[in-house]
Amino acid sequence: MSLAPFLRADIDALEAYTPIMPLDVLAARLGIPADHLVKLDANENPYGPSVAVREALAELASPAGALRNAIYPDPESGMLREALAHYTGQPASRIVCGAGSDELIDLTMRLCLTPGAVMLDCPPTFGVYAFDAALYGARVIDVPRDAAFDIDVAAIEAAARQWQARLLFLPAPNNPTGNPLARTAILRLLKLPLLLVIDEAYYEFAGETVVDLVADHPNLVVLRTFSKWAGLAGLRVGYGIWHESVVRHLWKIKQPYNVNVAAQIAAVAALGDLDYQRQCVSRITAERERVHAELAHIPGLTPLPSAANFVLCRVSATASATAVARAAGLRDGLMHRGILIRYFRKPRLDDHIRITIGTPEQNDRVLAALRELA
Ligand SMILES: Cc1ncc(COP(=O)(O)O)c(C=O)c1O
Repeated sequence: MSLAPFLRADIDALEAYTPIMPLDVLAARLGIPADHLVKLDANENPYGPSVAVREALAELASPAGALRNAIYPDPESGMLREALAHYTGQPASRIVCGAGSDELIDLTMRLCLTPGAVMLDCPPTFGVYAFDAALYGARVIDVPRDAAFDIDVAAIEAAARQWQARLLFLPAPNNPTGNPLARTAILRLLKLPLLLVIDEAYYEFAGETVVDLVADHPNLVVLRTFSKWAGLAGLRVGYGIWHESVVRHLWKIKQPYNVNVAAQIAAVAALGDLDYQRQCVSRITAERERVHAELAHIPGLTPLPSAANFVLCRVSATASATAVARAAGLRDGLMHRGILIRYFRKPRLDDHIRITIGTPEQNDRVLAALRELA
């Protein structure tokens, strides 16, 4: 039967986004038990959530708490937004929570993008932006980063004017390159007549934010997540900070019960135990510096400076193999040893590998394997 009478032609033609493979599926495929795998491919927190989070979730699973699972979650994530107001210094009225920041990226696009509307993208960057924009039939105009993977502010300004662009997402620091985004560049871009979304998914590792600018800039959005620093990627919880004049429209278009009960409880508990989260972050950033220094000593690898919880590493060619073949080969060689890292088959990234910072033991394993393979 032909699906043409009812299926959207643009969705029919769309290529699926490639997400990370679930650990148990990979374990079965590699014939390695899941708990022997070293997962350094999705920038998750290797230490997991705090004891306070685990206790809050256990309480939800207990006979006394279990009924809360039978009741729809607070559609406004009220307690979580209050806790976030305290954490961010922003009023709760500016905050909306989502099922991961991925959902908030999608909602922001729903707010701005109609078919044919233009979104600017600055590759190499987080792939979800361009992927999601296509779902709205938007036109994505690339404004590539320079050789150091910094954005080209003048080129963005020119493209914004030429295409009357509505939207631009910029991670700060950028994923997968790890470089920070200068506040001066953000201030300049805020003069453009488009919605500028600064994606601070890795804020806690970098320590720099522009949330303080939202009050005076209705065209600025700051997105954050509990997936990276707080060890809650599996529960899917993120939040964004929008100017009051914009946030009221978000409430109209959000699915009512988007953040589940467990995610709200876990995120509130995480914010109540900041000492633990900060300890994890400082262990990870100390390890980032150690891993970077060690990688720099491995012949054929050039790690890039990173302000996040991962390091992107350029791989050079040898007499017998291209850089692209070597980078893909390193990913495969590591995978066969049960170590998962990220390789992007994309322009300007296909001769790189990205390694998430794990525990010291995990990092030692990946470093030892790379010394053997490189
Ligand atoms: C820059 C950036 N934004 C957003 C996300 C998505 O995070 P979440 O798990 O909150 O959907 C990621 C995850 O890798 C990311 O790197």
